[in-house]
Amino acid sequence: MIRPLTYAAALLAVFLLSPACEREEIVDDLSSIPYDPKAYVMPELPYFFPEMPIPEDNPMTAEGVALGRYLFYDPILSADSSISCASCHRIDRAFADDQNFSTGIGGQQTMRNAPSLANVGFYQNGLFWDGRVKTLEELALHTIEDSQFMAHSLEELLEAFREHPDYPGRFRKAFGIGSRKEISKELTAKALAQFLRTLLSYRSKYDYGNWDRGPETQFFSESELRGKILYTTEPVIDPSDPHPGCSHCHHNTALLTSNEFLNNGLDPALEPEDFPDPGLGAVTKKNIDYGRFKVPSLRNVERTAPYMHDGRFQTLEQVLDHYSSGGHSSYNLDVNIMPFPLSEQDKQDLIAFLKSMTDEIFFQENSYKNPF
Ligand code: HEC
Ligand code: HEC
Repeated sequence: MIRPLTYAAALLAVFLLSPACEREEIVDDLSSIPYDPKAYVMPELPYFFPEMPIPEDNPMTAEGVALGRYLFYDPILSADSSISCASCHRIDRAFADDQNFSTGIGGQQTMRNAPSLANVGFYQNGLFWDGRVKTLEELALHTIEDSQFMAHSLEELLEAFREHPDYPGRFRKAFGIGSRKEISKELTAKALAQFLRTLLSYRSKYDYGNWDRGPETQFFSESELRGKILYTTEPVIDPSDPHPGCSHCHHNTALLTSNEFLNNGLDPALEPEDFPDPGLGAVTKKNIDYGRFKVPSLRNVERTAPYMHDGRFQTLEQVLDHYSSGGHSSYNLDVNIMPFPLSEQDKQDLIAFLKSMTDEIFFQENSYKNPF
């Protein structure tokens, strides 16, 4: 016969001991989880793409990319778990935002429009519209901590990962850590950067039409071909006969940007303080750099409205009206921005060519989608 008191005591003991045991399990060792990372295999890119620089201390692995993808879509990254990276970088917008200014934590607005993240792993000349950070690893931590974005203390975030049912295992699989304590901001940044480097856009009509060695007419319509000439003829060969000449800055190459920082005439300015947003000037403090912004890639431009660092233009027609007007004058306006004639037909042709840069497959790619 079981004596009720012994039974109660045993129950009590189980009750008292079990949380302790569990806690011990939560605290540390992850070595029972296998660590066997597989090199991430990049898709084969067309011959006209440059080599993507991969930092030596952050080689891409399937497990690292997978962890980065969870992190990108997880609101746990923001202080009140309200927004994730994907709240402002939306796959249906080529990872740009459809708002002029993205909404950060607590409904605050960011200072600028969120750019597309397609092919972001190639950029080596500075990230953000003003180039204030150099690497994706560095950038990832900035966005988490910045009060305009996710406003999260990294220490608190790391605690949340350490107590999480899944993240310790995912960090172990990606980076071989032996205990939860080893989850660090560096590893968080590395995983996010690995995922960002996988966002590759290279399968638009522009790619096939421009770079296939067969006849262009096989891919492009007549209107697109006329648009291509408007896009690629140098803007100011003869100052009395200026052209749109978009490719001077946005290039006619795989990345569709020169990756330089320039002033394309959005605001009038007699001196640096006149620019509503200092752009690169805030970083370098040189007068010549105020009002200069990163030349954005035109890949998928059909889907990345609103346009410019402040999202001031809603449509490509408005963008073309801006350029053909010659923009606002300022002391450092780029010499390739000057008024040029643009008929209705020219406009349609140029827009048709810009739309050939839309990569439909990019938007459907399963490995870019929310994994939750
Ligand atoms: C609240 C909205 C918001 C959130 C959340 C957010 N971003 Fe951004 N992101 C932006 C904006 C706005 C910019 C441009 C800021 C600037 O240039 O000053 C930007 C810029 C970037 C860039 C630079 C792209 C380039 O071409 O220079 C990358 C990369 C990026 N974000 C990745 C991320 C990652 C990774 C996360 C999550 C850790 C994240 N973002 C979270 C709004 C957001
Ligand atoms: C002198 C260099 C230069 C030339 C020429 C130029 N651009 Fe730009 N473009 C820029 C810069 C710089 C920006 C970013 C400006 C900003 O946001 O402050 C930009 C931004 C854009 C954007 C916004 C993209 C986005 O995602 O927000 C579009 C669209 C665009 N340009 C299209 C064109 C077209 C079409 C032409 C030809 C008619 C052209 N550009 C000619 C430098 C140039």
